[in-house]
Amino acid sequence: MSYQKPGLLSKHYDELFNSLPSLETKTIAITGTTSGTGFVAANACGKLGAKVILLNRPSERSKKGLSDLIAMTPNGNFNQVDCDLQDFESVRLAASELESICPEGIDVICNNAGVMALEDIPTKDGFDVQMQTNHLSHFLLVKLIFPLLQKAADLRGEARIINHSSIARKQPKKVLEAKYLEKKGGNLGGNGSSMFFGGARWLRYNQTKLANAAFTACLHEKLNAMGSKVKAMVAHPGLAETDLQSTTVKDGGMGKWITNQMMKTGQSREDGALGILRCIADPKVKSGQFVGPGMGGMFTAMKGEAHCYPLEEFYDNPATKNLLWEKSCEAIGEKFEIS
Ligand SMILES: NC(=O)c1ccc[n+]([C@@H]2O[C@H](COP(=O)([O-])OP(=O)(O)OC[C@H]3O[C@@H](n4cnc5c(N)ncnc54)[C@H](OP(=O)(O)O)[C@@H]3O)[C@@H](O)[C@H]2O)c1
Repeated sequence: MSYQKPGLLSKHYDELFNSLPSLETKTIAITGTTSGTGFVAANACGKLGAKVILLNRPSERSKKGLSDLIAMTPNGNFNQVDCDLQDFESVRLAASELESICPEGIDVICNNAGVMALEDIPTKDGFDVQMQTNHLSHFLLVKLIFPLLQKAADLRGEARIINHSSIARKQPKKVLEAKYLEKKGGNLGGNGSSMFFGGARWLRYNQTKLANAAFTACLHEKLNAMGSKVKAMVAHPGLAETDLQSTTVKDGGMGKWITNQMMKTGQSREDGALGILRCIADPKVKSGQFVGPGMGGMFTAMKGEAHCYPLEEFYDNPATKNLLWEKSCEAIGEKFEIS
């Protein structure tokens, strides 16, 4: 038996899309647009008139993603920039390209790309492949393009930094641990694949999604303290039918049978993108909000309309925020001062 996407129908996407304002004056950068929620968000932003920057690692998938977006929105302004989140050098090159192709500044950076429950392997920089892809490279990217976000905020009134977290941020302990942010890739527990009983692949994924939420809490606090017009927000997609599960099944992180059963309880990739789309484009979303289909436990936040909630105490606390910031700066090898 193989894993087959169930082909879930969207229930809320059209209504949300139709409620969003024109994005004609905006430059919007999104990581991971070859499939899933990033593809949906890029397409929506293109249709709403934004200049859309697609930050992807070079591949046949990224070429196809770009040509599909152009086919779906022929008058869209799509710009592909190579950015491999497993590689800090690639992120640095992407940031300098953004500086030259976005003299107008960047209104939105949506840190969407992610991988889930992959093997315990290090990146070439020595970090866990999941933590570097999902959080550390996004931390570096935001640090490097921060002046472009400030420029857009000064010129057009605001800019937004958006992280993409998950229900997994709560599993199982809700405590961020330093070792997952350290140069210990390949030595972080091995390849146990039990999602509910402490499989190490999942513990590492959970930590990355907790880091996404904690990064938002740090940014919001620092930006708010200086009265910045740059805002920080975080979304989660519930359980969305994207390529994430297919990739994880192929890597051995999820069984085919369980994935087939579980995904029937999820939602379409379009409905999964509601949270990031509201963060990108909805004027009602404020800095320091968490946007998604509910904030309850594993089984109560899987699907539905994306609502705004406050950040949660288990990462929005001084100890977690200090740990996240210090360890992330140590990992990228530079300070990130917001002042
Ligand atoms: N789907 C869900 O149920 C669910 C639930 C909770 C949270 N999320 C989060 O939602 C976000 C989007 O995932 P998705 O569900 O839309 O999955 P997806 O369809 O697999 O999309 C993931 C995207 O990330 C990109 N990516 C992976 N590794 C990369 C790298 N090294 N450099 C640059 N891009 C990279 C992929 O590009 P390639 O083509 O290069 O692989 C792809 O475009 C992730 O952060 C995920 O953790 C998803």
